Amino acid sequence: MKTRITEMLGIEHPIIQGGMHYVGFAELAAAVSNAGGLGTITGLTQKSAKDLANEIARCRDMTDKPFAVNLTFLPSVSTPDYPGYVKAIIDGGVKIVETAGRNPQQVLPALKDAGIKVIHKCTSVRHSLKAQSIGCDAVSVDGFECGGHPGEDDIPNFILLPRAADELEIPFVASGGMGDARSLVAALALGADGMNMGTRFMATKEAPIHENVKQALVAATELDTRLVMRPLRNTERVLNNAATERLLEKEKRLGGDIKFDDIMEEVAGVYPKIMLDGEMDVGVWSCGMVTGLIHDVPTCKELIDRIMAEANSIITQRLEGFVAAKVAA
Ligand SMILES: Cc1cc2nc3c(=O)[nH]c(=O)nc-3n(C[C@H](O)[C@H](O)[C@H](O)COP(=O)(O)O)c2cc1C
Repeated sequence: MKTRITEMLGIEHPIIQGGMHYVGFAELAAAVSNAGGLGTITGLTQKSAKDLANEIARCRDMTDKPFAVNLTFLPSVSTPDYPGYVKAIIDGGVKIVETAGRNPQQVLPALKDAGIKVIHKCTSVRHSLKAQSIGCDAVSVDGFECGGHPGEDDIPNFILLPRAADELEIPFVASGGMGDARSLVAALALGADGMNMGTRFMATKEAPIHENVKQALVAATELDTRLVMRPLRNTERVLNNAATERLLEKEKRLGGDIKFDDIMEEVAGVYPKIMLDGEMDVGVWSCGMVTGLIHDVPTCKELIDRIMAEANSIITQRLEGFVAAKVAA
């Protein structure tokens, strides 16, 4: 399949793995890229610019295909060394960067000068247009269904994607709630040039995370995610668990007075314990509603091959069939 995204990024299939904290290590990024998609290393999971440089080198040892690095700008306890991370990306020869969170203006000149394609992930049409106006090459439009930070507008992809298609000139991929061939074909029909998946790629053999996390995704249904941190205007969609319930109870009790300090126990520094040690109730962790569509743990190649084969059959048989039936009648 050829789209503006496959052509721009030099990849075989229009499928991207979004940056994921403590999930997007070199093993997963390389597996997705080797399967013909675009894998992504999560920059800030690496504690320093030097660690990121090592992770990029490790990924390059595992694949000769293009891969990306995610740079996230979100409220955090201490400000990361963004200039150092950008230098590691440029020196490491990475040609694609996924930015997310705040406006990526501060890193754009350096990335563009190095010939790097920038895909900005954002949750609204106005932020997508802003990204286009400051020179981003593409956007990843993240609907309300998504795992992680859906923003505060709560617009699901059935509305957000065609709205983005109506307004944008640069290509975009659909993100949030994407999990199978039906998602891909629907995203293309709604005007996207591909799809970005987070949660679905966690439940793959190569995702270097604890088996407990993968099994939690297989067991969960679409009813099992919750929105936390809404009162702090830092909304995050997470899997429901004991920490999520505790956090929501604090939000209810403290109301508008709640501060980040009140919820440190549930959110700060919990990712390594969950993703690497499999301590499932130690804190809250991002998870999309698409968990309701996850029933197995395939390799990235099995997943991507299955999506592309089924997408082909949906387009050429199911959809073509409707048109043919109309002509015959
Ligand atoms: C466990 C997890 C961690 C994530 N961490 C980040 C992150 O650090 N930076 C970022 O830009 N997006 C992050 N995301 C969002 C994903 O890149 C992607 O946009 C999102 O998962 C898409 O929605 P989906 O889960 O429905 O596929 C994370 C998502 C998950 C599930």
